[in-house]
This record gives sequence, structure tokens and C-alpha cells, in this order.
Amino acid sequence: MKRVLVFDSGVGGLSVLDAIAASGRDLVLDYVADNSWLPYGLKSDADLRARVPALLSGLVAQWSPDLVVVACNTASTIALDAVRAALAVPVVGVVPPIKPAAALTRTGVIGLLATPATVRRAYTNDLIVQFAPDKRVVRFGSSALVEAAEHKLRGEAFDPAAITEAIGGLFGAPGGAEIDVVALACTHFPLLANELAAASPRPCVWLDSGDAIARRVASVLIADPGQARVHRAAFTDAHAARATFAAFRARGFSELELIGDAPAFITRPPTNI
Ligand code: DGL
Repeated sequence: MKRVLVFDSGVGGLSVLDAIAASGRDLVLDYVADNSWLPYGLKSDADLRARVPALLSGLVAQWSPDLVVVACNTASTIALDAVRAALAVPVVGVVPPIKPAAALTRTGVIGLLATPATVRRAYTNDLIVQFAPDKRVVRFGSSALVEAAEHKLRGEAFDPAAITEAIGGLFGAPGGAEIDVVALACTHFPLLANELAAASPRPCVWLDSGDAIARRVASVLIADPGQARVHRAAFTDAHAARATFAAFRARGFSELELIGDAPAFITRPPTNI
């Protein structure tokens, strides 16, 4: 049975883990959230390129996964090459779903909802040039939506302004009234898909990368059909780990660990987080 390590800054990677868990493959799923550094969308490119490969190298050495999913668009679009160079196992990145969005749009106008870092990245520009050269892409960057998703998964009320600002930023922009596909290019945002769709001025396809990533993982690992099961989850911040514990327990996690400081990122044995 193959082991997959899913990585994100916070709970966003759970949208990808859910898709992998639903894909009917015989896999063991571990999770790591760098929540002491959340939100990644407001961190510098240089800081992320240094931290993400170091953290994942430390954890891969301790947990020995067969494959790592960087379930974070903000990390993938700046550090995927650095992560691949640092790890000896296959790495699947999550990047904005521009190609499927371009194939789906009928109006030729795509909304791109991501973190402030992802919307301005060269990697994102290149995807648009390569896969949607004849489409109009309306971009909106939001860290408030990341926080809203974190609050939602803690079972707390979140500020509805995060939703209305994002919807206004997309559909109120020049050309935005024609958007018929929205690429959810942050793994936190599928966790708010219902709220976003309910606030939308028109019916749209709300496109996320989860199922495509699940298919990619299954094909890279040549995973047998079966039932995925979750195992360990590690966090860089104890308070955030406690606060989001219910969302992890609801997915079957029982072993939670804390990760010590850089540069070693040594996990501590399971604790009563
Ligand atoms: N979930 C991450 C992504 O896909 C980013 C969230 C953050 O800003 O930390 O981009």
C-alpha cells in the first residue's frame, strides 16, 4: 500500500485530500499544515522558496511517503521546482486550473480566484499565455477567503465580506459580467464553493483541481483500487492544530503531531492536541 503526504499552509489541502480519499484507491494519506506561517499568500516568494522544500525534506525523511502533493497553489507556483530538487520521491503540485477552465468557458471570460501571491505570479501568467491565449481572464486575489475557510472549518462564523468582496472583485471588474467559469486556484476556496455560488450574480462553473490531482496521484503511484485511509497529521502551530482538530477528526485522523522549528522540522510524537 502506497503512502501519500498532502501538504498545505492550513486546512485548504483537505479539499484535495477529500478528492483523493473519494477516488477509490488503496492509499494511506498523511497531512501536514504549516499553519504557523499561514497565510502563504502574504509571504515573500524568497521566504516560501526557502521554507517549503526544507519543511517537506524534514518530514519526508521522517515519514517516508511514496509521493508528496503540494496541495497549495501559492507554494506550487513559486517552489515546485525547488521542492522536486529537494525530494527523492515524486511530487504532484496544485496549480491554477486554467487549461480546463479555458476548455469549459462558452463566453470566453474566466474568473481566476486565488491568493494575492498566486494571481500575480509569472507561473500563472505563463499558464494563461499557454492555455488561454484567446480568453479573457479576470483575476481577484484574496487572503480574506483563506481566513474565512479556516474559520468555517473550525466551526466558527466568518466575515461574509470575504465572500462579497471576492464576488464583487470578479463580476464587477471590466468584462466580469460575462464570467461563466471561475477557477478556484487556492485549495482553501473549494471549501467555500457553496457560499461563493450562492453569492454569484449568475450561474457559473466553480472549478477546482481536486479530482484532477486525485487522478494524477493514482496514475503516478499505479495505485490499486481500494479504500484510502488517513493516518497522521502534523502541524507547525499547536494553537491552530487544536482549533482545527474537529475538521481532521471528522476525516478520520487520530494521530496528530507537532513539528519543531526550522531548520530541522523534527516531528514530536503524537500528543493530545
Ligand atoms: N491553500 C493555499 C493555496 O492553495 C494558500 C493559502 C494561504 O495563503 O496560506 O494557495
